[in-house]
Amino acid sequence: MKRLAASTLNIVQITSTILKREDKLTRESTPFIHEESGEACMTLKFKTREAVTHIAPYVLGKTLLDLQKEHGLSSIRKLSENENIYGCSPKVKQWFKDNGSDLFLYPDGAAVDLSHKVSGFLGVPKEQLVFGNGSDEVIRLLTRAYLSNGDEAIMADVTFPRYQTNVSLEGGTPVIVPLEDGTHDLRGMLELITQKTKLIFVCNPNNPTGTIVGKKELLQFIESVPSNILVVVDEAYMEYVTTDDYLETLPLLSAFDNLIVLRTFSKIYGLAGLRVGFGVMNEEVAEQLRKVKDVFNVNTVAQKSAIIALEDQAFIRECTHKNEQGRLYLESEFDRLGISYFPSQSNFIMVDTGMNGDTVSYELVKRGLVVRSGTLLGYPTTVRVTIGTQDDNKRFVGALEDILQNEGVS
Ligand SMILES: Cc1ncc(COP(=O)(O)O)c(C=O)c1O
Repeated sequence: MKRLAASTLNIVQITSTILKREDKLTRESTPFIHEESGEACMTLKFKTREAVTHIAPYVLGKTLLDLQKEHGLSSIRKLSENENIYGCSPKVKQWFKDNGSDLFLYPDGAAVDLSHKVSGFLGVPKEQLVFGNGSDEVIRLLTRAYLSNGDEAIMADVTFPRYQTNVSLEGGTPVIVPLEDGTHDLRGMLELITQKTKLIFVCNPNNPTGTIVGKKELLQFIESVPSNILVVVDEAYMEYVTTDDYLETLPLLSAFDNLIVLRTFSKIYGLAGLRVGFGVMNEEVAEQLRKVKDVFNVNTVAQKSAIIALEDQAFIRECTHKNEQGRLYLESEFDRLGISYFPSQSNFIMVDTGMNGDTVSYELVKRGLVVRSGTLLGYPTTVRVTIGTQDDNKRFVGALEDILQNEGVS
């Protein structure tokens, strides 16, 4: 069977997905306690800022241990958070064994050694780098520094949810542009620019769909955005990209003062638990973000580990290669099963099982595999699976086939 393009995903289903998603957005923009009565503020003993009442609490899943106990599983694999399934460079692990004596000291608030390393590796001046407690923090620094009440920030729907949360927290208005076939609708985003627009987020590859925007299209977009609006290109998964049609954004920084590129050590570098990411931007913006950040925001172990991880590019190349093999394998298996998926350039794939995503996720957990249901992500008949080792991938395909057969879908 031929590989299915993203556009073959059921149109009716996508439309209903978007409606569902809008429902969710409306729900999220009302107080989350006593939704119907709207009495959230009154029930709080200590009244929060207005913007906080609009934020729903982040729902964390059960721990692996809890799930394992609940389902009586001898083993369980987590394929739900797009971490690097191969861990981090063995050199980082060795450092942990040999060190740890200077933890009584505060970390270097300017991350001097790490800045030096990243600056040399990427070929950008260190003054253009801002490190965060994960790139999540850099997103927060941007909204903190640049958004005031009523300012607008444009982003896709569906994309990484932290853009929306942080914009809302600052009293800003998230302006949401539905994806087209799982990909950013850059033209639609341009059309929604107003006098109030301060920030635009482009997640490339996009989480949760894994898709990228074409090289030419993204360049044209960056050229078309007025120069007073900050364009944030989030490249958390860029090391997994293998197509040539992917825009290299760093060389554009000298031409576009309003461009900000986000990177992280949480994904292919395998350091999600340590929390370190960074943004690359013009010096003026970097200086403003540094004013807003906590002084000691990136801990000592994270800084040291990131330096070592960056030095081990052989490990990174190996992970990119293994991930691509896994991606091709999963895609060919999905083709065989006759189910569609968004064409991914990342370390996860969003696959349309034709069944309720929650049901499929639950059935997969019973078989020892944790994935992310697409229901909350806005695509109710999908699941998002992190590409695993060859064993994980085979186990996932076997389990999925079994579930689909039991339900008579495949
Ligand atoms: C697109 C995207 N950006 C940013 C992040 C945040 O990464 P971190 O804060 O771990 O650097 C994530 C995490 O899942 C992500 O998917």
